[in-house]
Amino acid sequence: MDSKLNFVTGLDVGTENVRAVIGTLEDGKLAIYGYNEGKSDGMRKGVPANLNGPARSIDVMLGEAERMGDYDVRSAYVSINGSQILSTHTHGMIAIVSNSADHEINDEDMDRVENVAVTSCISANRDVLDVVPLEYAIDGQGGIKDPIGMSGARLEMRANVISALTPNCDHLRKATEQAEVHAERLIPSVVAAGKAVLTDKQKENGVAVIDMGSATTSVAVYEEGDLQYVGVVPAGSNNITNDLAILLAIDPDMAEDIKTRFVTGDFDSEKSPVIKVGGKGGHERNFDRKEVDVVVKARLEEIFGEVRKKLKSAKYDQRLPEGIVLTGGGARMRDIELFAKKAMEASVKIGIPLNLAGVSDAVERPEFAAAVGLAMIAAEDQAYSVKPSKKDKKKLKKSSNKSGNFLKKIFSKF
Ligand SMILES: Nc1ncnc2c1ncn2[C@@H]1O[C@H](COP(=O)(O)OP(=O)(O)OP(=O)(O)O)[C@@H](O)[C@H]1O
Ligand SMILES: [Mg+2]
Repeated sequence: MDSKLNFVTGLDVGTENVRAVIGTLEDGKLAIYGYNEGKSDGMRKGVPANLNGPARSIDVMLGEAERMGDYDVRSAYVSINGSQILSTHTHGMIAIVSNSADHEINDEDMDRVENVAVTSCISANRDVLDVVPLEYAIDGQGGIKDPIGMSGARLEMRANVISALTPNCDHLRKATEQAEVHAERLIPSVVAAGKAVLTDKQKENGVAVIDMGSATTSVAVYEEGDLQYVGVVPAGSNNITNDLAILLAIDPDMAEDIKTRFVTGDFDSEKSPVIKVGGKGGHERNFDRKEVDVVVKARLEEIFGEVRKKLKSAKYDQRLPEGIVLTGGGARMRDIELFAKKAMEASVKIGIPLNLAGVSDAVERPEFAAAVGLAMIAAEDQAYSVKPSKKDKKKLKKSSNKSGNFLKKIFSKF
């Protein structure tokens, strides 16, 4: 079967923006065939505050992409966010019951030990989003990554269990269902972002990804190739905008304008002391840069301070050889990496989605990392979601050698 028909969809439902990425895995890369972004509605601090708002924004945003490409998105990997997301390290142990002395550990034993590990740490009002096996031990002998086929009398497992409050998961599933898309899997947005921007080497040596969105800033830590920790701080880049609006007594649009056009994370460098906003027929206003910088810096210090507390609690503060990678719209602030480097006392880079093909330019941005990562995980799981129409299949066949042009035409809006 033509691999180009095996499409996957990543749907990042953020507090301010909803983003979708449609693609397919080709030679280990995610070939991007569709994407869209739009304003989000009805989300508070990363979780749905009502069902209609998110459903409508998903519908409008996806609908546009579907109409243009004549795609039918039936299911997607969807992001989940909010400080309710927990990462819990747990341990489980089972006796290997067997009739024969040479019993080899099998899938059933693995399921049993995982069950014991998970049920001992997750309360009934939480959904398990992922179980990351960190280590197995057989008869007290640890350091085993894959015990299948080995033998022993006692099997132990150490795992990192990622969970979220069941009502929040249900609401997200219902909202996507209302938009006629099935949420095949819910994945924390920062974990999805990590999938898109981190290399295997970084994950092996020790690295953190920090996803700074509008209302949340989340962190995920990887070491020895495994996801070790996830935590979410309930504050993001919009808090900076709101602080500026309140403290300078201006409307939020003007505050956003100042933040995105004039603020830089390099607070120590020489800059013009006055920020001029407006003009061109409108009313021009001047702001004292020092005053603006004090407000922005205080909020950034608070947010990164909270992230650092989370890293400390997980015992990873200043213990990340590969440093920190920043994603999310908040990472678009000019020179934010310079501020983050000082605040976190670690090396910091901006994360751009890697391993892409197709019309990828437009999604090679830190704010698209989560949507791209969701599609990448779906592709790895072979969780196909897009069934192209007959018309589309014909077009795809014709254009299989020059898909760039065909898809550029379809998505020329972007
Ligand atoms: N150039 C820029 N400079 C500073 N901030 C920016 C810039 N561009 C976007 N932002 C900020 O990024 C934020 C939006 O980021 P993003 O789209 O990742 O959030 P979200 O995913 O909707 O929110 P969340 O992840 O918290 O639910 C907004 O606060 C916006 O002001
Ligand atoms: Mg986000």
